[in-house]
Amino acid sequence: MAEQSEERQDSGEVAIVTGGSRGIGYGVAQALIARGHRVCITGRKEDALREAVDGLGPGCAMYVAGKAHDEDHRRVAVEKVMEAYGRVDHLVNNAGTNPVFGPIAELDLGVARKVFETNVVSALGFAQATWAAWQRDNGGTVVNVASIAGMSASPFIGAYGMSKAAMINLTQQLAHEFSPGVRVNAVAPAVVKTKFAAALYEGREQEAVARYPMQRLGVPQDIGGAAAFLTSPDSAWITGQTLVVDGGLSLNAGVE
Ligand SMILES: NC(=O)c1ccc[n+]([C@@H]2O[C@H](COP(=O)([O-])OP(=O)(O)OC[C@H]3O[C@@H](n4cnc5c(N)ncnc54)[C@H](OP(=O)(O)O)[C@@H]3O)[C@@H](O)[C@H]2O)c1
Repeated sequence: MAEQSEERQDSGEVAIVTGGSRGIGYGVAQALIARGHRVCITGRKEDALREAVDGLGPGCAMYVAGKAHDEDHRRVAVEKVMEAYGRVDHLVNNAGTNPVFGPIAELDLGVARKVFETNVVSALGFAQATWAAWQRDNGGTVVNVASIAGMSASPFIGAYGMSKAAMINLTQQLAHEFSPGVRVNAVAPAVVKTKFAAALYEGREQEAVARYPMQRLGVPQDIGGAAAFLTSPDSAWITGQTLVVDGGLSLNAGVE
């Protein structure tokens, strides 16, 4: 993982990025650090988190290991950030799961509950925790990493799509409740080249890319830039919105 090489000026602001040891979360952490924020990343595997913090720069990054869907982990993560950095201005709810492929007609409902627990309830739990610890009194932003799968039907990943649709509405609910001090927005990526999405393009990337007007799949930096914008004063009058970051994929009308 690449070192942050450029000179950075500390903004004084602090962010938590859940699921930040690789992929989109790591790209978001890089973008926020480049804007001068200190960042705490979370994830389940401590080794990967340690390596990611080395790449991000230990002077401006820390980690707390744990499962996003574990209430104790969420509490401890926010407590540790408050102890280490004294504030938590921004929350990026990025950790997510998609453990099943197939029709929802046959979906094990226990799996459906797990998908909602990890993708939706965890995001709400983290938002409650950062609100109580800092944002209610001091303001800030929340960015939820949803998906274009939450905006229309996606065959074979229906439970995931349902959970991302819920995340988009969670974004609206929280934006309404947390106004005017805290802005809450979402990003909805199409396929971004990460471990999570590899099954969607590996071995057939040219075929996958053909549907994208921008003629490439996304990379984590594409989402990092969008998330950084939504945490910055440049988006000061934007709240409750979902920014589609999809290389133009949604421009296709479906008529060949
Ligand atoms: N890649 C895409 O095409 C795409 C498109 C739209 C939306 N998204 C969304 O973007 C987010 C990140 O996806 P990604 O593609 O970057 O995935 P990724 O490369 O697999 O990275 C996932 C990150 O989340 C952590 N993580 C996974 N499950 C977790 C859990 N239960 N608790 C805490 N941390 C957890 C992982 O670390 P550990 O494994 O160590 O926990 C890792 O740091 C997800 O919410 C996904 O739904 C991705």
